Amino acid sequence: MSFADPRTRCDRTTAWQRLRAHYEAAGRGFDLRAAFEQDAGRFERFSQQAPHVFADLSKNLIDAATEGLLLELARDCGLEAYRDAMFAGAPINGTEQRAVMHWLLRKPALAQSNQRLTATDSVVSGLRDVHATLDAMLRLAERVRADEAITDVVNIGIGGSDLGPAMVVKALDDLRHPGKRLHFVSNVDGMELGSLLRQLRPESTQFLIASKTFTTLETMTNAHAARDWFLERGGSQEGLTRHFVALTTNLEAAAEFGITATLGFWDWVGGRYSLWSAIGLPIAIAIGPQGFRDLLAGAHAMDEHFRTAPLETNLPVRLALLDLWYRNFHGFTSRSMAPYSHGLRRLPAYLQQLEMESNGKGVDARGEAVPYATAPVIWGEPGTNGQHAFFQMIHQGPDIVPVEFIALRGGGRDLPGQHPRLVANALAQARALMMGRPHEDCGHRRFSGNRPSSFLLLERLDPASLGALIALYEHRVFASGALWGINSFDQWGVELGKTIARDLEPRLATGDVAGLDASTAGLLRRLA
Ligand code: F6P
Repeated sequence: MSFADPRTRCDRTTAWQRLRAHYEAAGRGFDLRAAFEQDAGRFERFSQQAPHVFADLSKNLIDAATEGLLLELARDCGLEAYRDAMFAGAPINGTEQRAVMHWLLRKPALAQSNQRLTATDSVVSGLRDVHATLDAMLRLAERVRADEAITDVVNIGIGGSDLGPAMVVKALDDLRHPGKRLHFVSNVDGMELGSLLRQLRPESTQFLIASKTFTTLETMTNAHAARDWFLERGGSQEGLTRHFVALTTNLEAAAEFGITATLGFWDWVGGRYSLWSAIGLPIAIAIGPQGFRDLLAGAHAMDEHFRTAPLETNLPVRLALLDLWYRNFHGFTSRSMAPYSHGLRRLPAYLQQLEMESNGKGVDARGEAVPYATAPVIWGEPGTNGQHAFFQMIHQGPDIVPVEFIALRGGGRDLPGQHPRLVANALAQARALMMGRPHEDCGHRRFSGNRPSSFLLLERLDPASLGALIALYEHRVFASGALWGINSFDQWGVELGKTIARDLEPRLATGDVAGLDASTAGLLRRLA
């Protein structure tokens, strides 16, 4: 499989040079308050409705000229051709020679859609496999849901095999099967699994061993510990096959482990893009097959938006261009995520992997060092908690941190009377960041204002809206990576630490420090 990358690196385009000049002339000194005064249509110009997500981008440090140049950059970089290559199933993950087709997991079955068969053969046959596996997974979810003996479902996985499903299950807790408690164990720290197992009984527990590779140290360590616990507490070998399910692309390793109930997926699904695959089984158990299909449908609607909308009104592209403007021209180093929704409390953690593992790269797709910054640091907490922790710094610290607010028009089922208070706080923070209180005499009480934010609004937190929101972020990451000319779908940066840990672990038993640097040796001696 070979792939001719259609992209031109952003810094090698004329739009990049023009943006640099525009930044010096108008971008650096841009004032949001003046921009709103001068342009009565600013809110309409910089807001839009995408599938399930309304976005107000008007409180960002851009004007029509800035966005025009950024769009020119996107075109010059070949973003559209690169996007089309992904949707054609081309092997755009060059370092691993893999296609990138998590979007296929959300595509309706051919029989249900009116589309003509224009897709490549691999995509068409892939879609058939996808739906066969999806149907099998939903049948299994239905079986676990119907089994009254099972009260606890434990997902053992890490990274993409944990963060996405855990985030979604928490977000959709209002829809959770009342008879099932869902638990997510990821850390190799025995405290996490150990403290959970103390509360469980083998006969009422369903384990899901979620690992694309089925080799990940943390997951395999916890999976073995869970299996030992199960057998030591009276579980039988036969029971093991009922109480353990593997979600993996490595069917052989799962069989070797002793699991016969396996749901597979494909190497063209990246770990951090895998919640739509068999890795989503805990979601389907929690919210049921229809809920899972609605999640897929919401994401598919966003896929179609990203695939077909002109760049000017393509929300993932507009957000990616803002990220580039802030990171590469303003020099802002981070973005804070502020979901004003308890349900979305794990969204920042999920996005940390999605954005930083995908785009935290220092070389382009050909392996050449890039002379510009890439992924910003993503951090955040749900509102209003963040207001009582780090918003001080965001309002008055010397660093500018663009904030992304997410709010819901409708609250959840609990204490709905509190919802207006929650969203009023989100609106207030965004307005305070922009307006500030710049004329206050006392420096301690002065707010410079002119601090940027975006505001995303969902009607409610339901499976379809959540699916669309997650796909929006996936495609934004894709678009950012496309502009930066990098491969967003590998993660070589996680390998070195793993290799060194394998070398160090036996040394903790022997105290052998030969060949180590003085710091590692000193610490190891204290730990051994
Ligand atoms: O952290 C590296 C990584 O490979 C992630 O990309 C992945 O989501 C995670 O580990 C878990 O991998 P697996 O699903 O293969 O256990």
